[in-house]
Amino acid sequence: MHNTLLVWTNELGSLYTFKLVEKLVLVVSDPAVFMKLAGNGPEALPKAAFAVQGAKELGPGPDGIFMLLDFHSEEYKTVRKTLAPAFSLENVRNISPVACEHAQHLASKWAGGLEVDKEGDCGATVSVAGNIDVMEDLKKSALSVFLNGVLCMEMGEAEKETFLKNLQEGMAEVTLRVTNPLRQLIYNAMPFLPWSKRLAENFAAVNDLWILIFKRMREQAPYSETDFSLLACFWRLEHVHGFDDGRIRASLAAFVVAGFETNAGTVAWALYDIASHNEVQKTLQTELRTAGLLHEEGSPNRGRPITWEDLWGLPYFTAVLKESMRLHAIVATTSTIREADRDVELGGYYVPKGTVVWAPLTCLHCSAHNWEDPLAFKPERWLVPKGAKGDSEKAFHPFGYGPRNCIGQNLGNIVVRAMLMELISSLWFDVPSCMGSVEDVRAREEVGMTLKCRGRDL
Ligand code: HEM
Repeated sequence: MHNTLLVWTNELGSLYTFKLVEKLVLVVSDPAVFMKLAGNGPEALPKAAFAVQGAKELGPGPDGIFMLLDFHSEEYKTVRKTLAPAFSLENVRNISPVACEHAQHLASKWAGGLEVDKEGDCGATVSVAGNIDVMEDLKKSALSVFLNGVLCMEMGEAEKETFLKNLQEGMAEVTLRVTNPLRQLIYNAMPFLPWSKRLAENFAAVNDLWILIFKRMREQAPYSETDFSLLACFWRLEHVHGFDDGRIRASLAAFVVAGFETNAGTVAWALYDIASHNEVQKTLQTELRTAGLLHEEGSPNRGRPITWEDLWGLPYFTAVLKESMRLHAIVATTSTIREADRDVELGGYYVPKGTVVWAPLTCLHCSAHNWEDPLAFKPERWLVPKGAKGDSEKAFHPFGYGPRNCIGQNLGNIVVRAMLMELISSLWFDVPSCMGSVEDVRAREEVGMTLKCRGRDL
């Protein structure tokens, strides 16, 4: 879907329409129009109900897993205002050591799988790596960071794997329902089908986790006024604002789902981009070495622990991460779908009520009209104030824009930076031949990711 929309966008321009079943869809990649429809001015539009309807079974609330569609509603404003303090920089700051620790475990696990060949080509110690399913490992790790760091909970390895499998199958179905609503009808009408039964099990299993977290929220109560942990903020929704169980669990579900896979996917794609650009990887290593962070292979220099300042203080690292986030929009294409709830004028065009207004981040981030050489991985473009065509920052919104932008972006930024920095400080990554070329990977739109890693012959 990402790729098709991008091809159409490059052919048809920054605003165009097509018909999806009986709906008129307006696709937007003009940065100024995107900011208007996602912002909070008169042209702002609510989320499209049809895009989240198929997700009802993932959570118990009236809209299933998701929070409310209309950001103008008082209920939505209360949710956002009550939960936002949990993601202030101050509040999530202490999660970076947790993320570093989990990334260290991953690095040791991946490095532990290496065979060491003492007779390497140049006489130095060379490690030979096997292929690693980095996406699966990163998902588990990012889930652990969220559970340990944000919710102060532990979960066994086997339970984590079962939860992830059920969530993956449930989410895949939810995504398919957006373009094929018949699936929901069949599921509802024929619960006896093995397919429906399996799905019902997937949904029930993920709901069990929301129930567990909800119980924990109540067990830990009462919370002090100065406690802005996520559970304390959720508890306030119940006790100060009178939200019922179902609504709380539905929002909890949204936060857990949004709060770890995004981080894992962002780190995995950054590792892929780094692994497929050796010069970039070498430059990153030089920056990490200069900062004293590189764990040198075969040397007593282990590199010092990553500090809070390091997370924000390495310009090349930041440029690499931004460039990777530009190329790979990690949130589902469907999450930025809005629907005109009235006749509205957008970018000088009349948009009738009922039009689906779709602003896929891939089109904003990778279209030829917004970027020079849009599909090339060029971290340098972020090292000059106006590197891209026009004002690059206006066409770069990996965390969305406006009142419905990512509430967890501080946490996301911290976890992603900490995990990525720790991993590339420890290992050298390569792309195995089974992944194919960069073009093959892009064309597949796969969420899986296999890489190789090895010690550095420094
Ligand atoms: C690198 C990691 C992440 C990326 C790239 C990302 C991206 C996004 C984007 C683009 C949106 C807005 C979609 C729209 O405009 O409709 C969004 C919304 C959201 N994100 Fe994130 N996110 C990340 C991490 C997180 C984390 C760690 C959390 C923590 C719980 C989180 C929670 C949410 C929630 C709850 C929303 C819905 C907000 C609302 O509708 O008011 N995200 N995210």
